[in-house]
Amino acid sequence: MDIKGKVALVTGGGSGIGAAIAKALAAEGARVMIAGRRPEQLRQTVQAIGELGGDAAIHVGDVARAQDCEALVAATEAQFGPVDVLVNNAGILPKGKPLTDYSVEEWDAVMSVNVRAAFLLAKRVLPRMVERGSGHIVNISSVSGIRFFVGESIYGLSKHALNALTNFISEEYGARGIHCLSICPGLVHTDMGLTLEPTHRDRLLTPEDIAGSVIWALRQRHGVRVPFPIVLEPQDNPWEGGYPMLNQKF
Ligand SMILES: NC(=O)c1ccc[n+]([C@@H]2O[C@H](COP(=O)([O-])OP(=O)(O)OC[C@H]3O[C@@H](n4cnc5c(N)ncnc54)[C@H](OP(=O)(O)O)[C@@H]3O)[C@@H](O)[C@H]2O)c1
Repeated sequence: MDIKGKVALVTGGGSGIGAAIAKALAAEGARVMIAGRRPEQLRQTVQAIGELGGDAAIHVGDVARAQDCEALVAATEAQFGPVDVLVNNAGILPKGKPLTDYSVEEWDAVMSVNVRAAFLLAKRVLPRMVERGSGHIVNISSVSGIRFFVGESIYGLSKHALNALTNFISEEYGARGIHCLSICPGLVHTDMGLTLEPTHRDRLLTPEDIAGSVIWALRQRHGVRVPFPIVLEPQDNPWEGGYPMLNQKF
């Protein structure tokens, strides 16, 4: 797809991976709506895009709320037109602990942002994509969505579910011109990634690495399908002695 002139919506675009994806899309000539709860973070991304000559706007909202998801898509359509590229990037990572220590409230919070919001936004943009016979949905998942890390059960469950959502969208809407893709990063140098306390920060993936994979996938010609998640991992282990969660005894 030629990204130039396309309308993109990136959730969690004010920081980390989402900000890098928003900038990369704008650099390719997309008009980008970025969303999140913190207006100042969103404004910084828009300013950076503007300084590079790109076109972007912000919408402040909480994707855990159905009405905010609806308002976000409506605002994007009003500002730029129908969404060509939806990037479900907003996510939260709860503190690691054994499965039975998680509360129902923690389950609901993680599932609402990491899975339900992706469903709600896809549900809202898909009909107009199908009408036009084209559209891309990119879900930012995680290696936690293809593996089973000790201490990350709720987060991992949400990312496995997000990968399943990707596959269902591909199977049900692929024949109608829709591309849906999961990207599964390992540890990335962002606020979220640093909460996992890597001992070698210089070994982490960068947000730009992830953005590069999004642009690569979007640039494929219409006849090319990317049926499996794109997995990116640091070449060298960011933790001295291995991933610390795996050494925990619960
Ligand atoms: N960093 C890693 O190592 C890593 C690895 C694999 C996958 N990922 C995934 O990559 C995605 C981006 O994470 P990141 O590493 O870039 O971390 P980050 O900087 O903490 O970004 C998370 C983004 O999600 C937004 N967000 C969270 N809850 C939201 C809500 N309820 N409504 C709207 N926006 C919300 C945040 O914006 P506000 O706080 O302003 O709302 C923030 O911009 C996440 O889905 C994460 O699971 C990260």
